[in-house]
Amino acid sequence: MLYCAAEPWRGFARARREPMSEDARRFAPAVARNKAAITEILARHLPSTGLVLEVASGSGEHALHFAAHFPALRFQPTDPDAAALASIAAWREEAPLANLLPPLMLDVMADGWPVPNADVILCINMIHIAPWEATAALMRGAARILPADGRLFLYGPFKQEGAHTAPSNATFDDSLRIQDARWGVRDLEAVARTASAAGFAAPVVELMPANNLSVIFHRVP
Ligand SMILES: C[S@@+](CC[C@H](N)C(=O)[O-])C[C@H]1O[C@@H](n2cnc3c(N)ncnc32)[C@H](O)[C@@H]1O
Repeated sequence: MLYCAAEPWRGFARARREPMSEDARRFAPAVARNKAAITEILARHLPSTGLVLEVASGSGEHALHFAAHFPALRFQPTDPDAAALASIAAWREEAPLANLLPPLMLDVMADGWPVPNADVILCINMIHIAPWEATAALMRGAARILPADGRLFLYGPFKQEGAHTAPSNATFDDSLRIQDARWGVRDLEAVARTASAAGFAAPVVELMPANNLSVIFHRVP
């Protein structure tokens, strides 16, 4: 089971269109709850044009939603998981948008990423559901492909100064660590130090509903 938000509800559900044909689209309940709030923040932080690389797109619902809201930007969804890639492709087929590119396989831990340049990188609800090394790999990869002043946008639950910001985040953190001892809600200051080492300025932090944060890093010129 995969949790996608700081509350212990189910991650993905599959859809079935007809009794004989399985629908590859996945539905992440957290996306329905957080996409409007994230879109508001993106509207303030995205450039007006350019390529947005989404790392860890999961079901693909965010990419579809953002592409519909920001038609002058191009969105490149990615994920390392084959079922996620199938879901993203199925959503894209269901609601074709000229600015939503076909999904690509991207594991942040890989040496080479399949996208050589991007103006913005989005990474929503990934760094706590992956080993800590994935955060450093994300920062290094992002620094490689973003231009000077390019933006790396993270969203999710964070600890601040070593402490959880809400009891629900502490419970969520426990549930993550039970699933995989290498997972866990990250400390904002440790994430910012890792970003700084890779070449990013101190982040802009936006408070989000349900004790989540949007954390926006600018690549230092
Ligand atoms: C909780 S889901 C979040 C999906 C989506 N961003 C959302 O908010 O619904 C975590 C995602 O991180 C992806 N992921 C895990 N490890 C990764 C890695 N090393 N590189 C890239 N993505 C990874 C998983 O495949 C999964 O799709």
